Order: sequence, then structure tokens, then C-alpha cells
Amino acid sequence: MGAGNLRFAAALLVLVVTAASSGATVCVAQLRRDYYAGVCPNVESIVRDAVAKKVRQTFITVGATVHLFFHDCFVEGCDASVMVASKGNSTAEKDHPNNLSLAGDGFDTVIKAKAAVDAVRQCRNKVSCADILTMATRDAIALAGGPSYAVELGRLDGLSSTASSVNGKLPAPFFNLDQLTKIFATNGLSQADMIVLSAAHTGGLAHCGTFSGRIRGPTAPDPTMNRSYAARLQAECPANVDPRVAVSMDAVTPVAFDNQFFKNLQSGMGLLASDQVLYSDPRSRPTVDAWARRAAAFNRAFVAAITKLGRVGVKTRAQGNIRRNCALLN
Ligand code: HEM
Ligand SMILES: *[C@@H]1O[C@H](CO)[C@@H](O)[C@H](O)[C@H]1NC(C)=O
Ligand SMILES: *[C@@H]1O[C@H](CO)[C@@H](O)[C@H](O)[C@H]1NC(C)=O
Ligand SMILES: *[C@@H]1O[C@H](CO)[C@@H](O)[C@H](O)[C@H]1NC(C)=O
Repeated sequence: MGAGNLRFAAALLVLVVTAASSGATVCVAQLRRDYYAGVCPNVESIVRDAVAKKVRQTFITVGATVHLFFHDCFVEGCDASVMVASKGNSTAEKDHPNNLSLAGDGFDTVIKAKAAVDAVRQCRNKVSCADILTMATRDAIALAGGPSYAVELGRLDGLSSTASSVNGKLPAPFFNLDQLTKIFATNGLSQADMIVLSAAHTGGLAHCGTFSGRIRGPTAPDPTMNRSYAARLQAECPANVDPRVAVSMDAVTPVAFDNQFFKNLQSGMGLLASDQVLYSDPRSRPTVDAWARRAAAFNRAFVAAITKLGRVGVKTRAQGNIRRNCALLN
């Protein structure tokens, strides 16, 4: 091998090593539980108080916030890019045409918690919107009776937000098991993570249009849907219903964060086709049965999976910053 070739091989090796190490650092490098201990030691209680106040005013805050976190993480990583408002003719992530689902109360929760954090002089412009959304999600889940868990912090806010970045990144409510598994795998989450995270549908609302094909039309009612549940949904979502009408995703315990989601699937009461398929597909049914039976095991698996979700595409160093206003890029 000539000197030129050797140099080339050495350069290649360096490239490979750099790529491998940066790949490993991208997702979790700077996330730590005590990330703000030095700059804003009370950040968690400030956020918790703001979220509790907002939930007391409007309970739908819980679902709205958890849903916002999920969308944020799956589109460009957990970087609060979903919070950014459109400006002029540049359409942001949140204004993607298919956004009926992002309820304003989720945005409002983060904006209010950010204002509370920034009202403390020491904390002003030191805590990212992405971390505030992560803490608010944890607090919303706990306030609804779900598990409380320690959050990892240290995400920076993203530097861009475009409607086109949403394309193909989110699961659709008619996805089958393979499609669901695949889109979660793209984000480093396993099939079990996907199943347990779907239990976020133990609370919150869905617009009639997201499941109308199951209760009305050529193939309705969906044979995997409980007949009396289908009749109830047909009454709640009549033909030509106002597209803004939404129903509880968990018909049995609509405001409690619990493992009822899995029990509902066992009786054919999953609202979305993508929920019910977790039970009708024999490959995921045993997992659904296990979590329907054991609430403590469900809570543990949920906490582990939502922690993993919070690591998706985390921005560090030059990839992000701390936004002064969550709705505007600095
Ligand atoms: C597994 C694939 C998933 C699909 C296909 C899916 C789809 C949907 C759809 C269609 C809605 C109704 C939106 C609307 O009409 O307003 C919804 C609501 C919701 N989703 Fe998911 N979702 C999935 C996973 C998740 C995950 C992983 C989370 C969080 C960890 C989540 C949290 C929520 C919440 C909290 C709501 C209620 C929103 C509210 O009350 O405003 N979803 N989801
Ligand atoms: C908006 O669109 C106009 C014309 O289509 C273009 O000239 C202008 O540069 C655009 N502005 C931004 C901010 O993209
Ligand atoms: C959804 O997008 C539309 C424009 O497509 C926008 O008017 C609306 O405010 C957006 N909704 C939310 C909650 O951001
Ligand atoms: C349908 O749901 C009801 C409760 O709403 C339940 O008692 C019944 O067993 C369910 N039917 C089936 C076939 O699972």
C-alpha cells in the first residue's frame, strides 16, 4: 500500500470513529436529572405549580400536554419545534394541515410554566421550552393519577420548525401493528414501548373523524369493535357531525391515567383502529393482557418508555438554543 493509500485509510478510520461517537452522543449526551441544579434549582416545583393551576382550570390540559410532547418528540426530536408559530409564509410544524389534534391548552400550559420560570430572576431564559414540555408532561400524568417519575433534562430548543417536516413522522390512527412498530422503531422505541405508550390514550379526546370509518361506511361497524360501544359512538358522532366534536378516548375511566386502556381493548372498546389492533393482532395481545392484569408492571414499563421517548433527537450545543419565547425562534 502506498503512502497516499495509507493516508486515505487513516482518514477513513477517523471518519468512521467520529461518526460512531457522535452517533452515540446525539441522543443522551447531556441529559441529566440535575441539569438545572446550578442555574435554577427550583425549576421542577415552579413548573409543577403552574401545571397544577392550569389543570385545575381545564382538565383537558392533561391530554393536550401529553399529546403535544409525543408530537414534539416524533417530529425533529424533543426540541419544542412543535411550539413555534408560523411566520409570514413559512408554515410551522403546528400548522401542518392535519393538526386538529393539537389542542391549544397544551401550548398554553408550556407558555404559562415558562412565564413562571422566567419570573424568577435567576432562572430567566435558562430553561429550555423542550425541558418545560417534558416536565409538564410528567406533571400532567401524575395529576391524572398516573405514575410520577424523575425526568431527564438538558434538551435544547430546535432552530427550525416546518410543516413539511411532519410528513411521514407521525403514526396514523388506521396503522396496523407492523406500521406502528416500524414508525416507533425509527425513533429507537421497541414494539413493547409502542404498546405501553399507546396507553396514553387512557385519557384525552379524539375527534370523530379519527375513527368515523369504524362506525359508519361500507366496512362499518368494524368487526373488532364492541357492538354496544359502536352504537354509543354512532350517537356521539352522528353523520355530518361538526368536525370539532371530540369524544373521550377511554369510555370507562376518561379522566384517570391508568391501565383501563388495556382492559378496554380486551372488551373491544379501543377507540382508534390503531389501539384495537394491539389486541386483535395475536402478536401483541399477550402484552396487552399482561398490562391489563398488572397495573404496577404497566406503570413501570410506561415510565421506562416515556423516558426513552424523551431522548429522541435531543439537540445539544450548536444544534439548539434556549428560546426566549417558546412560540418564536430567537
Ligand atoms: C401508537 C400510535 C398512535 C397513534 C396512531 C395516535 C393517534 C392519535 C389520534 C388520532 C388522536 C386523536 C387526536 C384528535 O382527534 O384530537 C390521539 C390523541 C392522543 N394521543 Fe395519540 N397516537 C399514538 C400514540 C400516542 C402516544 C405514544 C402518546 C403519548 C405518549 C399519545 C398521546 C395522546 C393523547 C394524550 C391524546 C389525547 C389528546 C387530547 O386530549 O387533546 N398518543 N392520538
Ligand atoms: C414569501 O413568499 C414571497 C413570494 O412567494 C417571497 O418573495 C418571500 O421571500 C417569502 N418570504 C419568506 C419569509 O419566505
Ligand atoms: C392548525 O393549523 C391551522 C392552519 O392549517 C391553524 O389555523 C390552527 O391554528 C392550527 N391549530 C393549532 C392548535 O395550532
Ligand atoms: C362490550 O362491552 C361491555 C361493557 O361496555 C362488556 O360488558 C361486554 O362484555 C363487551 N362485549 C364483548 C364482546 O367484549
